[in-house]
Amino acid sequence: HHHIDHATPEKVQAAIAAGETHPVIPDYERFDTYRAAGGYDTLIALRGGAKTPDAVQDDVLSSGLRGMGGAGFPSGRKWSFVCGYEGPRYLAVNGDEGEPGTFKDRYVLERTPHSFLEGMLIAAWAVEAETCFIYMRDEYPAVLEILRREIAALEQAGLVAPGYIDLRRGAGAYICGEESAMIESIEGKRGLPRHRPPYVAEVGLFDRPTLVHNVETLHWIARICREGPGVFGDHGVNGRRGMRAYSVSGRVRNPGVYEVPAGQTIAQLIELAGGMAAGETFYAYQPGGPSSGLLPASMDDIPLDFDTLQEHGTFIGSAAVVVLSERDRARDAALNMLRFFEDESCGQCTPCRVGCEKAVKLMQAEHWDAGLLEELSTLMADASICGLGQAAPNPIRLTLKHFRHEVE
Ligand code: NAI
Ligand code: SF4
Repeated sequence: HHHIDHATPEKVQAAIAAGETHPVIPDYERFDTYRAAGGYDTLIALRGGAKTPDAVQDDVLSSGLRGMGGAGFPSGRKWSFVCGYEGPRYLAVNGDEGEPGTFKDRYVLERTPHSFLEGMLIAAWAVEAETCFIYMRDEYPAVLEILRREIAALEQAGLVAPGYIDLRRGAGAYICGEESAMIESIEGKRGLPRHRPPYVAEVGLFDRPTLVHNVETLHWIARICREGPGVFGDHGVNGRRGMRAYSVSGRVRNPGVYEVPAGQTIAQLIELAGGMAAGETFYAYQPGGPSSGLLPASMDDIPLDFDTLQEHGTFIGSAAVVVLSERDRARDAALNMLRFFEDESCGQCTPCRVGCEKAVKLMQAEHWDAGLLEELSTLMADASICGLGQAAPNPIRLTLKHFRHEVE
């Protein structure tokens, strides 16, 4: 496991002295280093016909890799969907890592940007994408600078044609991480989620079939193609399969990204993070971003992975784990989450726009009106257009279920 390496004043000074264009560029693996260690050999071999796209897709499928943005859709399966529609096709990378508590994509990009870029180019090769768009959040300025440099290095080395990779910046809207809103944003429009179906695999960017992958997913695709499906699929604990980059924060001793076998319980993750911070007693946790709500400390033995949290009314999502202590109250955290959704709702549909606002008001009451909140939650989950409004009631429902003593 590894820790986030924060920029310190000394590092910033050193970077400025070395003439870096952005003062907080971390020390990452550059093109020459990656290439010298065999990086891009896989891409070059595939382009030269070493394997068919179908064979590569089989490798990705057999590894068990699922979408690491949070939804867990089988990654290889997306390729055949997209290829089922006539080209030209596009690839769009979702780098809008906006889920509060999630910082794992940043971790990859600030360390090994080329495992991500090679994965992207392999996926682009597999679906014959005409252009690759990278939608990167503007709140990651160091990442943007790294990508600018390393895309230029790829062009210089002749591995991509100039302009083949089109780097776009987000503008701070959480909703633009929703894949269809992201596509609207890349097209130059306001980021409003579209109705599904049609899925973006059929009607995506500029109405063309579009393959959308998360950053970490592409990093794993490169590694699976180079090292074999086992590099991902041979791992796992507590009956789960694969690898996972848990972003662990909150009241633990060592917050950071822990890239470990999938299926860790919260008890194991707290241990990995050095235990609870001094003087803190474990009380509750957010398993996968605010959309996943809060679980009590008594549920510390559930493998945190795709599918395992469904029966508890939630999901692992992007594995943004936040640990709360007895100093915190679940109701305060849940209210904070709903305020976030209220702020970030795009306002397009009433159940979400008005629902979030009403929920915030109801949750501010000393005693929660459980009946009314349940009714509102059901309506929001059933009638909202996109995942934001559908998942926004999760913190309400889970607080009512597990922390009733706080709100009665
Ligand atoms: P989803 O399950 O609806 O879709 C997942 C992917 O599979 C999409 O690319 C979709 O186009 C594709 N797909 C699903 N069914 C398909 C079909 N029948 N045909 C073709 N393609 C199909 O999930 P969604 O709404 O895209 O993502 C929700 C997740 O995003 C949540 O788990 C949440 O945790 C996570 N999330 C992550 C954030 C982050 O910063 N990483 C931010 C906010 C949410
Ligand atoms: Fe916009 Fe919320 Fe409706 Fe999604 S659910 S389209 S964020 S108003």
